[in-house]
Amino acid sequence: AWDSHRAEAVIHAFRELDGAMLPILHALQAEFGHVPDAAVPLVAEALNLSRAEVHGCLTFYHDFRRQPPGRHVVKLCRAEACQAVGAEALHARLRHHWGVDWHETSADGRVTLEPVFCLGLCANGPAALVDDRPLARVDEQALEAMLEGTGS
Ligand code: FES
Repeated sequence: AWDSHRAEAVIHAFRELDGAMLPILHALQAEFGHVPDAAVPLVAEALNLSRAEVHGCLTFYHDFRRQPPGRHVVKLCRAEACQAVGAEALHARLRHHWGVDWHETSADGRVTLEPVFCLGLCANGPAALVDDRPLARVDEQALEAMLEGTGS
């Protein structure tokens, strides 16, 4: 859970770097699973930037989550080789099945769907990461089986 003291410690560890904003935002996401709006003024103050600048960076890079993720994070490859073997159709089915589009979390909090661009499994697409574990030739059943295998 969010804790402003921990956030300040994270920010402090990186603030002296050149171009500290991205490392700080990544570190906050690693610590909390997302970068909540409450972090914005802390980062702005530490780096002597406006809140708008920090907010702009946070929203420009889609890697940053601004809400806590679901219990599982499924990243589906959207790069060309996977598209050629049905990644977009799979995305459409997942959207329907889980009720989520990119960067969204299902209403039951079970799964967050995020795009990723090439996992190096191009010969075996569609490819995905389920909670950071790679899956090749993936379909809805394989994703469901993977989620169930992890206990939810
Ligand atoms: Fe999907 Fe490379 S294009 S893994």
